[in-house]
Amino acid sequence: DGAGSSKGSSVGKKLSLILLTFQNSALILVMHYSRIMPMSGDHRYFTSTAVFLNELIKLAVSLSMAMYETSKTLAPSTPATVLVEQIYNGVFRGDGWKLALPAVFYTLQNMLQFVAVENLDAVHFQVLYQLKIITTAIFTVIMLNRPLGMVRWASLIILTLGVSVVSLPSSSMPKDSFLLHGIPDHFFPRSQHELGHQPTDDGPDVHLTRRSASYEGIADDLPVGEAGMNYSVGFTAVLIAAAVSGLAGVYFEKLLKESPTQVSVWIRNVQLSFYSVIAAFFGGIVWQEGEEILKHGAFDGYNWIVWVTILLQAAGGLIASLVIRDADNIVKNFATSISIVISFVVSLWLFDFKVSFNFLLGTSLVLVAVWLYNTQEHGLKRPQAVRLFS
Ligand code: C5P
Repeated sequence: DGAGSSKGSSVGKKLSLILLTFQNSALILVMHYSRIMPMSGDHRYFTSTAVFLNELIKLAVSLSMAMYETSKTLAPSTPATVLVEQIYNGVFRGDGWKLALPAVFYTLQNMLQFVAVENLDAVHFQVLYQLKIITTAIFTVIMLNRPLGMVRWASLIILTLGVSVVSLPSSSMPKDSFLLHGIPDHFFPRSQHELGHQPTDDGPDVHLTRRSASYEGIADDLPVGEAGMNYSVGFTAVLIAAAVSGLAGVYFEKLLKESPTQVSVWIRNVQLSFYSVIAAFFGGIVWQEGEEILKHGAFDGYNWIVWVTILLQAAGGLIASLVIRDADNIVKNFATSISIVISFVVSLWLFDFKVSFNFLLGTSLVLVAVWLYNTQEHGLKRPQAVRLFS
């Protein structure tokens, strides 16, 4: 068993799955809001610096965890230089350089996610991003040589359908309820506008502000109908991100579990974020946005919402790596699919959301998919198999 040296407990497995589910719900909401919120200056924050900071935080946390883990194997009197040397060897000897590839892919994916979230409404983003369920399965079969079986394929297709149906707006809903459909759209006033719901004379604040006192402050100043969304750019970004997600995730999993060089997930994460920091710096900060950053400064447009976005993204990456270690990428995608259903339950509770037919149908499909996937546990070559909710 590849990652056997530092496998989490079964409680740990479940905890990381649950954490990932909630992290994902929060990230999508906060990230989208961070791209459309009113700007304090004349410039929105640079996504390249955000992605760079995200990778830097993951590097710092992973390095600390790797040092902690290694220090436990050393006698208390061992000089610190030995610890540093061991970490250095762990990270740079062996096949650590191979992490450069998933690092570049993940950095690209993280940058594309910002592009997609900025150019698409939440509904289209959610539906299209579900394609990663299928791309991940394809790469799992090809690269990890792990046959899925007909029933599991069927369950993944049902899952994709289910999440898509949940995310779709329902035509039978009253016009202003559309905002409540999908990931709560209070945060996404532009999407409502882009989909053809023109603001009335009263202004869209009518439905933005009446829901919940806690959102009024935010909703009051939202830049409704702001121009600048480009659907074809958004579509392309989300499609590439979905493909890259599957490829990078499965490649990381392969290195973690099947490489002859057995190192812990934290050392793998140090290797991954080391190369990601370099990729994010040169590919993002220097190449993509360098000129503008020189003009405005790297942290122009930053506020606490941007920092929350960055922290949520970094936390998500670290939790994802634990889920990949303890289960696999496919199970990780189940967790994030369920997060979409959770967003709905939250809107039900917070925003007097009416349960629609789409919601019931989509949620049922998701649950059937989870059940079907789990009925197929036995008899397949899956040594690291983990039941989703048992
Ligand atoms: O959408 P998806 O589930 O593929 O996103 C995975 C996220 O987890 C990416 O943001 C990626 O950068 C992050 N990740 C990470 N460390 C890993 C694996 C994934 O930071 N070892």
